[in-house]
Amino acid sequence: MTADTDALREALLHELAEAREPDEVERVRVKFLGQKDGSITTLIRGTNFGALDKDERRVVGNELSGLKSFAETAIRDARQQVEAVAARQRRRGLVDLTLPGERVNVGSINPVNTIQLFLEDVFRGMGFMVEQGFEVETEYYNFDALNVARDHPARDMQDTFWLDSGALLRTHTSATQVRAMRKYGTPLRAIFPGRCFRYEALDASHETSFYQCEGLMVDRGVTVANLLSVMQTLLRQVFERDVSVRLRPGYFPFVEPGFELDLSCLICSGEGCRVCKHSGWVELMPCGMVHPRVLEAAGVDPETHSGFAFGLGMTRLAMLKYGIPDIRLFDSGDWRFYRQFPATV
Ligand code: PHE
Repeated sequence: MTADTDALREALLHELAEAREPDEVERVRVKFLGQKDGSITTLIRGTNFGALDKDERRVVGNELSGLKSFAETAIRDARQQVEAVAARQRRRGLVDLTLPGERVNVGSINPVNTIQLFLEDVFRGMGFMVEQGFEVETEYYNFDALNVARDHPARDMQDTFWLDSGALLRTHTSATQVRAMRKYGTPLRAIFPGRCFRYEALDASHETSFYQCEGLMVDRGVTVANLLSVMQTLLRQVFERDVSVRLRPGYFPFVEPGFELDLSCLICSGEGCRVCKHSGWVELMPCGMVHPRVLEAAGVDPETHSGFAFGLGMTRLAMLKYGIPDIRLFDSGDWRFYRQFPATV
């Protein structure tokens, strides 16, 4: 008797483990518990209780009803399991077209990089090459070769990060001017985009590191008119509309004459507003005609050649173009800021 019920339990569990669909479980149920000829039903029906004495009857009765409820429970569990699996598969196969798509996080590009890639494109279109320069520079290229006098305040400890080796972190991309002229000679049209460093107190418009894009064009007969036309072409593309520019005198030791280039205020179109401090103009970039001493330092003859240079603040340009109110946001690492900019250029 016990051997029979053990064998039945084992056979039942084995068949249930094989069942993958609800109707396969049902087939197992009929095979073991079916009214007509289920093997457990048959075993119970075939037991002649009348031939057993009272004690035997109790033992056999317990064993058979234990087997029956064991089978019922095992079959119910198996049915629940295959139904759950089937439901999961059905759900996976269904597409609900009214649900919003899954958002894929692809990151985004820092607006300064977007501006840089854009500028590189526009300048290449005007025949300029792109040169990187070095973030760690010598005092010579950053200052001396650019006609910045030994006692010029810009060399003060307060403005420049000096390294123990005597080298420095470039304070402007102008440091690449003489390097590029020496390397490529003339005629030369090049931009040098990159990171610059200054030892400054932080506020909404000052960071210890920021990005500039230097521009340099040297050839025979280059004039201020060339400078203006290149600038206007550039700014029209950056701001996607016609912009007016004006030049004011400005002083930098490496240009003569030197200028500050202003842009007609894009917020109020020159009417006067808070951004332009009611002047109708915003200061955009310093520029000028390359100083003869700088040309000489680069081995270019100032009698036959001339050039213009400008120092476009890319960080500043990004702030103007995207209306970013605080320079510290750029390196903040704050995803809520970066997320607002596109992932592709
Ligand atoms: N290098 C200057 C600065 O960073 C800007 C500049 C570049 C001025 C080229 C004139 C010509 O302040």
